[in-house]
Amino acid sequence: MKVTVVGAGAVGASCAEYIAIKDFASEVVILDIKEGYAEGKAMDLMQTASLNGFDTKIVGTTNDYSKTAGSDIAVITSGIPRKPGMTREELIGINAGIVKTVSQSLIEHSPNVILIVVSNPMDTMTYLVHKTTDLPKNRIIGMGGALDSARFKYRLAEAMEAPISDVDGMVIGGHSDTGMVPLARHATRNSIKVSEFLSAERLEQVAADTKVGGATLTKLLGTSAWYAPGAAVSGLVQAIACDQHKMFPCSTFLEGEYDLNDICIGVPVILGKNGIERIVDIELDEAEKAKMQESAEGVAKTNGLLQL
Ligand code: 2OP
Repeated sequence: MKVTVVGAGAVGASCAEYIAIKDFASEVVILDIKEGYAEGKAMDLMQTASLNGFDTKIVGTTNDYSKTAGSDIAVITSGIPRKPGMTREELIGINAGIVKTVSQSLIEHSPNVILIVVSNPMDTMTYLVHKTTDLPKNRIIGMGGALDSARFKYRLAEAMEAPISDVDGMVIGGHSDTGMVPLARHATRNSIKVSEFLSAERLEQVAADTKVGGATLTKLLGTSAWYAPGAAVSGLVQAIACDQHKMFPCSTFLEGEYDLNDICIGVPVILGKNGIERIVDIELDEAEKAKMQESAEGVAKTNGLLQL
């Protein structure tokens, strides 16, 4: 199993590190445009192999896509991250051009690749890949919901003073400060609804904190977060590589599911060796449906800025 990670910045490197540590891939190629940068990150990571006990080979390359040939999965993290005060949507101009070129170069060298898009604004970048390549929709996956759900579980555990392993919950919708739809009604603590432990007001606060999870970190760090994004990507890569049939919320092209069409947005999907094995179209209540529609309108507005 060969995995390529494009972008050796913090998210890309953290993603490569988590994939390597889990030791399910034979090779991880890190590619970056900055001379020597990916080679340096790859060498540093390889020198953790004996310490962390993994055999995954990590190779770095400066923009040489021939090194990525035959990749089963490729993760696109390239582009600029947001700075404090910026929304993910503001990155569209620069990142659209980068994501388009990167996805085409990857497919040229690995026609059977499954692409995972991380670059922001992620739902729109996933839509761009869908519109500008010939890949079937099961092989184009946007990573946002897995990360947002991890942040939701963190906030729920904090509010309930519970260990995170007790908590389950999912965030669907667009990967943006306003577009996320944390499914509080479905969240549980060991199968008991979280509403048994938290007041409606506290749950609202948890949802609000979840939605600005990325912005809160960007403010603290001066740039966007990387540990949780990297770990979330590695979970998706592992589910595909090991044909786990695990369910994650991912951005995928919808054709009528959730009453939405011609849009990539976060919904629960089953991930296996074919990428998206199927979309799970769950029944939402009226309030959740309204939030999902509103979220989709926001994503569609950003998609409208693309020059396709
Ligand atoms: C985040 O939410 C990178 O969009 C990513 O941290």
